[in-house]
Amino acid sequence: ASQRKFFVGGNWKLNGTKKGVDGIIDFINKDCVDPNVEVVVAPSAIYLDYTRQKVNTSVGVAAQNCYKVGSGAFTGDNSAEMIKDVGCEWVILGHSERRHVFGESDQLIGEKTQFALKSGLKVIACIGEKLDEREAGHTEAVCFRQTQAIIDCIQESDWGNIVIAYEPVWAIGTGKTASPEQAQEVHDTLRKWLADKVSPSVASSVRIIYGGSVTAANAKDLGKKPDIDGFLVGGASLKPDFIQIVKARA
Ligand code: G3P
Repeated sequence: ASQRKFFVGGNWKLNGTKKGVDGIIDFINKDCVDPNVEVVVAPSAIYLDYTRQKVNTSVGVAAQNCYKVGSGAFTGDNSAEMIKDVGCEWVILGHSERRHVFGESDQLIGEKTQFALKSGLKVIACIGEKLDEREAGHTEAVCFRQTQAIIDCIQESDWGNIVIAYEPVWAIGTGKTASPEQAQEVHDTLRKWLADKVSPSVASSVRIIYGGSVTAANAKDLGKKPDIDGFLVGGASLKPDFIQIVKARA
């Protein structure tokens, strides 16, 4: 069995109110604390401080994005320093919505990853192909290109602070989950590619998690695959179903 600790992230996206956040934190603090699973939740930046103060200390808190410099004239953005300053440990970078709704490039995501790591944050780095890219047979090429842009900006020693989230865009928020076989195939191919591009030890130790319509119903089968080291959960992370996803390997 792999030594990689199972990792489950809850990406709340642009959802929530203080009251709603209280409700989520409630079920997390009651049931999601499991020494065998690393659990990280990602509220909107507005609620990072609040969530960090209220959620169990064994649960990590991630921002959903941050900029590539620490401070300055960048109206509307957030920095890695600020995320750390309110006690949070993680940031999600390169999420498909940042790439495709907000137009972030591979290079910008590489630079953001570099800066976040330098600032002492851990990074959930997201990659994944769109439907037309999959249908054209470009899944691997897209995932490799997006990952290479990160490799180019960081050091081998940084990989201990990165989790890769494979999120095929066609599976995000669509109810169309990748099958366990489809996800395993990409994770396995990516891991072998990382052995060559970074190092065999990074390839075998880095956690590659799957995201895209993960539910309490499909998490168990996905979680059985040897190269699926956990999940990044959107919609289902707002509901108590999240507990069952955290316990998918239990
Ligand atoms: O980051 C998680 C994500 O994009 C998946 O969202 O709602 O399909 O679970 P969802």
